[in-house]
Amino acid sequence: MECIKFDYSKICSFVGKEDFAALQPEAQKALKGLLEGTCRGNDFLGWLNLPEEISEEELAEIEKTAADLRSRTQVVVVIGIGGSYLGARAVIEALSDSFHNYESAGMKVIFAGHNISEDYYYELQNFLENKEFGICVISKSGTTTEPAIAFRLLKELLEKKVGREEAGRRIVAITDAAKGALRSLAEQEGYRTFVIPDNVGGRFSVLTPVGLLPIAIAGFCIRDLVHGAIDMRNNCLRQEISPALEYAIARTALYRKGYAVELLANFHPKLHYITEWWKQLYGESEGKENRGIFPTGADFTTDLHSMGQYIQEGKRILMETVISITRPDYKVEIPVDEDNLDKLNFLAGKRVDEVNKMAELGTQIAHVDGGVPNMKVIMPALNALYIGQLFYFFEFACAISGSILGVNPFDQPGVEAYKNNMFALLDKPGYEEASRIIKAKL
Ligand code: PA5
Repeated sequence: MECIKFDYSKICSFVGKEDFAALQPEAQKALKGLLEGTCRGNDFLGWLNLPEEISEEELAEIEKTAADLRSRTQVVVVIGIGGSYLGARAVIEALSDSFHNYESAGMKVIFAGHNISEDYYYELQNFLENKEFGICVISKSGTTTEPAIAFRLLKELLEKKVGREEAGRRIVAITDAAKGALRSLAEQEGYRTFVIPDNVGGRFSVLTPVGLLPIAIAGFCIRDLVHGAIDMRNNCLRQEISPALEYAIARTALYRKGYAVELLANFHPKLHYITEWWKQLYGESEGKENRGIFPTGADFTTDLHSMGQYIQEGKRILMETVISITRPDYKVEIPVDEDNLDKLNFLAGKRVDEVNKMAELGTQIAHVDGGVPNMKVIMPALNALYIGQLFYFFEFACAISGSILGVNPFDQPGVEAYKNNMFALLDKPGYEEASRIIKAKL
């Protein structure tokens, strides 16, 4: 079985062997803390064993529910935000045809609950008006405002269209086993439910029903995804030095040299939401106590024509990690043109991917020459198996990296600040004092 690889040979001119050596004991300590369950945030380590522990019965139940929703509907709206949204979207976008979005799989999955834009909801309601639709609502806490608003709007629309009983058959809720408003609502209405384990945080939950059910509804193979994660788990747990550990060490070594921003770059538009998922994983895990690498992303070559200038010559705070895909799925050759007015005949007969690969290599050399350390995560192909490996690779590295940084990688206390202000400004009951204070500042 091929496995994704990590190449950090192009950072050697930025960090010395002694920097790596110095980090080894810290990395081994972080690894030990993770494997022995003694690290900070150790009540949220359930993700470590998820791919091994998910049972045949659970997978079959998810597939059965997905098949039932697919048979009842044309469209399923997946409602969720953050960790209850990004993993599923990342896989669905990565595996879908770019121009027959989702239809190739016979089912259209669309997303809501990840914003509070009135126009988005107006247009969504219009779009759904004449469609047979269902809802998969996901919230671990069951109390997050964005998905709760979306669910209230769409539940009402669905009940008006098909009646409360059929709506109940078309709604599936994924939430905590016992707590939260969504759990109470699901029980009262008799919706089918799946549980997010207590010891798995949102951004580490893609291999629970949170990610697996929407991906199955979209028609993709969740078993390949899980198998990929198992491969990488074996790789990470059975070796003292795994690619994930090397990635954690490499980025930490660079961070300690002043590279405070990590750009996750790709050369395939389908990877855009993988980057979005990665941004949340690293941003929420590491950005605390005034520490942490700022994770950002770029889609190349598109962004080489917008952000390329800054990356090449701006402030030298950037490190770059490229997700490189070895084999494209299809073959497209550049044709010969007798007139050659566009002067492109030097490319005639070459595959588009060969040009893309040379753009990738040329970019790597240019960025390294310009002072941007470059790392590469190499995926043999873009499929569910390798995405499963990639998810586990990044999750494992994130836990190690966060522990070396000295923060709790599994909490996100800073996310509450905007919520508290929003509730105070909206006069939510219980926020009277906060409301008085914040309104005095306006
Ligand atoms: O990683 C996290 O825990 C968060 O990003 C959550 O996933 C996000 O805030 C959504 O929370 P919930 O699933 O409780 O609605």
